[in-house]
Amino acid sequence: MPLLRMSPELTRLFEAARAAQRQAYAPYSGFPVGAALRDAVGLIHAGCNVENAAYPVGTCAEAGAIAAMVAGGGRAITEILVLGPGPGLVTPCGACRQRIREFAGPDVLVHVADGDGVRAALSLGTLLPESFGPDNLGLKNLTRHA
Ligand code: THU
Repeated sequence: MPLLRMSPELTRLFEAARAAQRQAYAPYSGFPVGAALRDAVGLIHAGCNVENAAYPVGTCAEAGAIAAMVAGGGRAITEILVLGPGPGLVTPCGACRQRIREFAGPDVLVHVADGDGVRAALSLGTLLPESFGPDNLGLKNLTRHA
């Protein structure tokens, strides 16, 4: 899959995800993943997968990046990049699509990268159509920053 052109802003997201991927704790799968997102005030938050000897307890890179954003006061994702190894596109798993949905609308771009660059950009609405989200429970305007 060809590399997509990266703006300076996207390059910063890519570098943050690659740095996080280097810290991934993935001794069981050998599949290190990094994720980086930009919040509503432009701050970048990154995370990596953290596996566990009790396999289901492991967490994805996206979950780490989202936790870092929330801990930093962020409440909205404006774009997110996921970076993993191998020839296939490392798109977020189903659970992480829902995690992203909590803080992002259908137009938010999910960039998918490998170590060399970005391979694809898909909207969240494409990855998770007809989603269930905060608005279903009457929660609106999740764009503030604490
Ligand atoms: N993984 C992520 O961290 N994010 C993804 O989008 C796909 C999968 C992790 C989970 C597990 O630690 C490893 O990759 C193999 O599935």
